[in-house]
Amino acid sequence: MAMNAPRGTQDILPGTSEKWQYIEEVLRDLSRRFHYKEIRTPIFEHTELFQRGVGDSTDIVQKEMYTFEDRGGRSITLRPEGTASVVRSFVQNKLHGLANQPTKLFYFGPMFRYERPQQGRYRQFVQFGIEALGSEDPAVDAEVLSFALKSYQDLGLKSLKLVLNSLGDQESREAHRQALVDHFSPHKEELCEDCQLRLEQNPLRILDCKKDKDHPAMGTAPSILEYLNEYSKTYFDKVKHYLDAMDIDYVIDPNLVRGLDYYNHTAFEIMSEAEGFGAITTLSGGGRYNGLVEDIGGPATPGIGFALSIERLLMALEAEGVELPVENQLDCYVVVMGEKAEVEAVKLVDKLRSEGLQVDKDYLHKKVKAQFKAADRLKAKKVIVLGDREIEEGIGNVKDMASGEQKEISLEDISAELKDTKGE
Ligand code: HAM
Repeated sequence: MAMNAPRGTQDILPGTSEKWQYIEEVLRDLSRRFHYKEIRTPIFEHTELFQRGVGDSTDIVQKEMYTFEDRGGRSITLRPEGTASVVRSFVQNKLHGLANQPTKLFYFGPMFRYERPQQGRYRQFVQFGIEALGSEDPAVDAEVLSFALKSYQDLGLKSLKLVLNSLGDQESREAHRQALVDHFSPHKEELCEDCQLRLEQNPLRILDCKKDKDHPAMGTAPSILEYLNEYSKTYFDKVKHYLDAMDIDYVIDPNLVRGLDYYNHTAFEIMSEAEGFGAITTLSGGGRYNGLVEDIGGPATPGIGFALSIERLLMALEAEGVELPVENQLDCYVVVMGEKAEVEAVKLVDKLRSEGLQVDKDYLHKKVKAQFKAADRLKAKKVIVLGDREIEEGIGNVKDMASGEQKEISLEDISAELKDTKGE
């Protein structure tokens, strides 16, 4: 029986993997400029971390986690997101004790959610994310928002929309929560089963329900922005002020609630506005989570971050027709004629590789014409022909594939010649 990869996963094959590498390089460079350092955490964690961190009442924890018991009887979960793990590591390794704060971290890695697979929604996907822990300065919120936008702009994307909201602090959220309960309770029986539960556990999540989105009570639901206390309102105003100062456009959406429970104050998503992008237009999301470090057992520490998935980023690049400048050319292909030349060719290829050039040769004993065809297919910039005569004379016949020009060059000087023309 032929074996296929599990539903909702995909293989990244050569031809596409170069794009992934290029995107990673751009995001690493962005992290360097914003002064965020890489953190790598395990792919699996104790299940309890996500129950406490992401929140028991979220869809992620209730329906989407890959949870299993390991051989020691512990409940283990493949991470569905990166923030809880980063915060766990921040607490465990006492990064809050380091002299330089806030602690600014970035990460790449596969995340796992048992969702219904569709375009842009996978069961294994790769997130890039950043987290800034240890400052409650609205300028940090603005920095994270700017970083999120630049992640796309640096790759050439233009049709972007930054959607912003404030969820307020604990006091504001409680006042809003009560208003939501009062508003939706008379309609309880008309809401879906999930929302009936949400009404008790986390009424804010009702606003994010796909089933009930057309219920008339949705449109008239009380907005969080009307319930922000003075501190939360001023905080939000400062974030917007910084964004304005940086000329960053945004749209306020008081109904933006995120799918994870840890957020307060700033919450945001970046959407693609490219035509033909598909049904799911959210490219990335994030926000502030001032209570999470404490929830996970650390000292009260504010935090904010965001994450994007490379899969959706690639979809946006495709929808906007952006070609990434990925180099897919060989510096040189060595064509061999005759048995004697074989050993010299192996030696030459090895030497050129040691000197940093990207070089290949034929391993299928093809005829010379077919070797040239292979060189063409591999987009080799130069072809070196080695035959018995060339070996005797200690030379190689170097052909420039773009101009067709041919030169005989001594084997000693070949690498210098190839390096000379590499940058052309
Ligand atoms: P999230 O909104 O759950 O937030 O995910 C962030 C991004 O990951 C989404 O906007 C989307 O691009 C991508 N994503 C999520 N699920 C899938 C999927 N099934 N397939 C493909 N891409 C997906 C978080 O994960 C938070 N940890 C973000 C954050 C960091 N908040 C603060 N710091």
